[in-house]
Amino acid sequence: MARSVYLETFGCQMNTLDSELVLGQLRAQGYQAVDDCQQADVILYNTCSVRDHAEQKVRSRLGELRFLKRKRPGMIIGVLGCMAEREGDHLLHKYPHVDVLCGPAELDKLPLLLHNAAIGGRQVALMGRGVRRSGTRQAAEDNLEMLDLSRSMSLGQSPAQAYVRVTRGCDKFCSYCIVPFTRGPEVHRPPQNIIDDVKRLVAAGAREVTLLGQTVNHYAYQHGDGRTTGFADLLYQIHESATDLPRLRFVTSFPRDFTIQTLQVMRDCRRICRYLHLPAQSGSNRVLGLMNRGYTVEQYRDLIDQARSSMSDVSVASDFIAGFPSETDDDHAASLELIRYCGFKNSFIFKYSPRPGTAAVRRLKDDVPDVVKRRRNNQMLAVQAEVSAQLNQAMVGQSVRVLVEGSSKLAQKAGSPSLVQLGVAGRGLAAPLATAGPSQLVGRTGGDQIVVFDGPSALAGQIVNVRIIEARQMTLVGELQA
Ligand code: 5AD
Ligand code: SF4
Repeated sequence: MARSVYLETFGCQMNTLDSELVLGQLRAQGYQAVDDCQQADVILYNTCSVRDHAEQKVRSRLGELRFLKRKRPGMIIGVLGCMAEREGDHLLHKYPHVDVLCGPAELDKLPLLLHNAAIGGRQVALMGRGVRRSGTRQAAEDNLEMLDLSRSMSLGQSPAQAYVRVTRGCDKFCSYCIVPFTRGPEVHRPPQNIIDDVKRLVAAGAREVTLLGQTVNHYAYQHGDGRTTGFADLLYQIHESATDLPRLRFVTSFPRDFTIQTLQVMRDCRRICRYLHLPAQSGSNRVLGLMNRGYTVEQYRDLIDQARSSMSDVSVASDFIAGFPSETDDDHAASLELIRYCGFKNSFIFKYSPRPGTAAVRRLKDDVPDVVKRRRNNQMLAVQAEVSAQLNQAMVGQSVRVLVEGSSKLAQKAGSPSLVQLGVAGRGLAAPLATAGPSQLVGRTGGDQIVVFDGPSALAGQIVNVRIIEARQMTLVGELQA
């Protein structure tokens, strides 16, 4: 009988993609994915360590599983992803019922780890910090390719929206961030493999491909003959190779690495969405310096100005951290000013969460009281909501192209929740389609604005014309056009 696997994913789009690839590999080995963890032979959590809150959720799940494991000692529990890498053996001491630990850079080994765990004995595959010091960078690149290439082998049918990895890992070492420690050194996939993936997904039905990287625009692939393919070249090549792909997007961009060439490619290639996710993190130069971000507010603003002068309709989203160590009211006011100046479509705003082992924790005291963090967080959300509402208002009367995600989960609710409540990944607004009849649908514009409108649910996965008739704070309401 097939072994059943329950996999729950926390965190960013990179984890969503990793989970999809992991499930693909396990299916190829005869596993069957199930929605109910109580019945599953294998329970896996693909975890996130970016903030303590994300880790708490996993800790509470693991605590609950203690009882299930006592009842069914033959089951296997695995912790995958950033928390496995960050906590390592500590997790096993705290949760002795965990059988498998597998870091994000080792996920290609998971089928083998599960096989061995079923025979007996704990299985641990972590990259460890040595990978940055030793000459094992090539090994990191090979692992990366193994996992990503596995999709092409297991792919059946693609959903309308698909992710393709461009880079993995991060070398920026922003002082607050755990990612460089958990995901390891930045490695870049060969351009031809990326292009082949995109083409295969389009052939299988993808209408929108999102290129993923922690700092996606830092992509620069060094060919054996000394040539380099930069990010602008890559975007252009994908656009020209996948001519049947209506929408190509990319996240997340690092401000300092953004080039004029990339803006030009976006301007000239109409199937590339005019959307940028460019986290600013703070509007204060002093705080940006402490964060080790490598740019000033003036440089960030210049970049936004350049993007707007290349493409007047470009839509920009940002991330901010509220209450970074030593942040003053003036620093905070500078962040509010930056939100207004840049006119972000939305911002993902987070209270600073000290991550053990990062430079911020080693060098700076977490001295902004939690009430102040929360107040600043809320003020930023309020200013962003004003800015978003103005932008949305300006769209009333316009016709937009919308990729339909499905029936709207928001339909039942009065008003609409904030984008932050909808999650960082910002996807998954659609409820499963129950009927083929008319319903309230939800989709997105090329600029990533959420649009709700009435229409037949059979439109899911298609791109349709919608006229905007009403602006709400975080969503647009539209009318389907012929
Ligand atoms: N505390 C709060 N927010 C953080 N982020 C990353 N690390 C932390 C932290 N320690 C936020 C940043 C980043 C987003 C993915 O998460 O804003 O862009
Ligand atoms: Fe973290 Fe900075 Fe890398 Fe983004 S660029 S993943 S914030 S270290």
